[in-house]
Amino acid sequence: MKTLIINGSPRVNGDTAALVRELRAHLSGEVAELSAYRAKLSPCVDCRACARVKGCAIDDDMRAIYGDDFDNAVIASPVYYSTLPGQMMNIASRFQVQRNAKYELNDPFVLRPKRAGLILVGGGKGNENGAVRMSAVLFRMMNASGFGAHTVLSMNTDTVPAAEDETALEGVRSLAVWLNGGE
Ligand SMILES: Cc1cc2nc3c(=O)[nH]c(=O)nc-3n(C[C@H](O)[C@H](O)[C@H](O)COP(=O)(O)O)c2cc1C
Repeated sequence: MKTLIINGSPRVNGDTAALVRELRAHLSGEVAELSAYRAKLSPCVDCRACARVKGCAIDDDMRAIYGDDFDNAVIASPVYYSTLPGQMMNIASRFQVQRNAKYELNDPFVLRPKRAGLILVGGGKGNENGAVRMSAVLFRMMNASGFGAHTVLSMNTDTVPAAEDETALEGVRSLAVWLNGGE
């Protein structure tokens, strides 16, 4: 079993990192992490090659997602302006390959079904609703489901760092149980 964690934080030792560390400590099987800020990831540049030939013409770390060799998809990210950070939007834009495969090539590019888990942190005024909605789009593209019942929030990091948020830490441990194949 393999879990792919897409980490949307630019901070190596920030709040997202603290919860990802706890998750990794409780996950069994193989775990891979794709850092939206440190991986080589281009946004979609609308070259429209994927409307002629199935798949993306840009060869970069999106391979980790397109390769579809994972059983669980986790999005772990800070909330920026009530949605996901721009680098996460870059990843979302690369699913244009699916739109073009379906509507231009009539040859759908569908990933295998998998389990989904969501971890969001925030410490400002904007709430998490936009980030949850955008994560739902990303999960749908990855054919990952179930995050509704497996979402962990730590939304007061300005006063309580995620590393000290006992409710969030417990939530992450429950998320690991589900990703490990539990109910
Ligand atoms: C550009 C920017 C925008 C932000 N917007 C929000 C927001 O809308 N809502 C919120 O709760 N926190 C917001 N924050 C605060 C971060 O989400 C918060 O500090 C978070 O804990 C950082 O996580 P990290 O340490 O994992 O990067 C924002 C921070 C930045 C840098």
